[in-house]
Amino acid sequence: MTDLTVHLTQDDIVRSLRSDVLTGLTATPKTLPPKWFYDARGSELFEAITRLPEYYPTRAEREVLAAHADEIAELTGAHTLVELGSGSSEKTRLLLDALRRRETLREIVALDVSDSALEASVAVLRADYAPATVHGVVGDFTRHLALLPGGEPRMVAFLGGTIGNLVPAERAKFLSALRDDLETGEWLLLGTDLVKDPATLVAAYDDAAGVTAEFNRNVLRVLNRELDADFDVSAFEHVARWDAEEEWIEMRLRATRAMAVHVRGLDLTVPFEAGEELHTEVSAKFRRARVAAELAEAGFGLTRWWTDGEGRFGVSLARAVG
Ligand code: SAH
Ligand code: TRP
Repeated sequence: MTDLTVHLTQDDIVRSLRSDVLTGLTATPKTLPPKWFYDARGSELFEAITRLPEYYPTRAEREVLAAHADEIAELTGAHTLVELGSGSSEKTRLLLDALRRRETLREIVALDVSDSALEASVAVLRADYAPATVHGVVGDFTRHLALLPGGEPRMVAFLGGTIGNLVPAERAKFLSALRDDLETGEWLLLGTDLVKDPATLVAAYDDAAGVTAEFNRNVLRVLNRELDADFDVSAFEHVARWDAEEEWIEMRLRATRAMAVHVRGLDLTVPFEAGEELHTEVSAKFRRARVAAELAEAGFGLTRWWTDGEGRFGVSLARAVG
């Protein structure tokens, strides 16, 4: 088994799951925070999403990284690449290859809540990027940034548009915490999906093959297993909706009939009305000005901004300023 640094033990995870679920399922409307999608099956389903014809963000971001990785390596001269929410770290290899070509790469840090995703990715990174040291860290990027290893200068990569899964207040808090944990002059490489026509956006989150629906419903399986709940998973349908005011995609699970769900691990009974929607995730879409403003507010200066050829996805290279 690969050795990982664990900031989140199974105990911590269950404790924070319990508190999130108790808060979320007794709120109006009912909500569940998105990090609970990613058990082993959830991480596999997400990888399947990245290969769907409708899910363009992964391909668009890969195009940007392929085109500009050498320039990123040149500008940053990073010794450590830290990746937050690293998942499979597949696109990250473009950055690692470029840093290696420039002969600055010494350490790699991959942080994710999903230990199964990390086990797999860390083993591959160790094999392919030796003699660079690879640290796999099981942690929550909203809580464990101060504990990251790695020599300076560091570049923190936060890819996949995952920042859009935080709502604006959470993003501001996350970016400020990240800035505080970096030295002035260190780097953030941030991937953000961009505002575009709603049909393209909705299709990316509601694919024809139903993989995203299965991913969304997976959170209910996590609750059934971890909290001894009795969600009838097939009684919930996947909903993906574009909110033009907030400029985000909203994912929900709609109860197709009235039911009472028992969360035995919490000694909680949760009533659902027919048609009631449980909010599971937002995926915010950005414009360049908004990204620049949010970065500036947190103490980052935007050094470069790139998009793919079709202008679907933005990648920012930002620097911690004093
Ligand atoms: N970076 C990859 C994966 C994106 S999916 C890509 O671009 O394809 C989002 C990833 O973030 C998943 O691997 C998930 O397990 C992880 N994740 C979600 N919330 C997290 C949190 N709060 N802390 C750490 N990792 C998190
Ligand atoms: N970070 C990804 C995104 O917002 C995560 C994601 C893709 C996702 N499809 C999803 C989360 C469907 C929940 C449901 O694009």
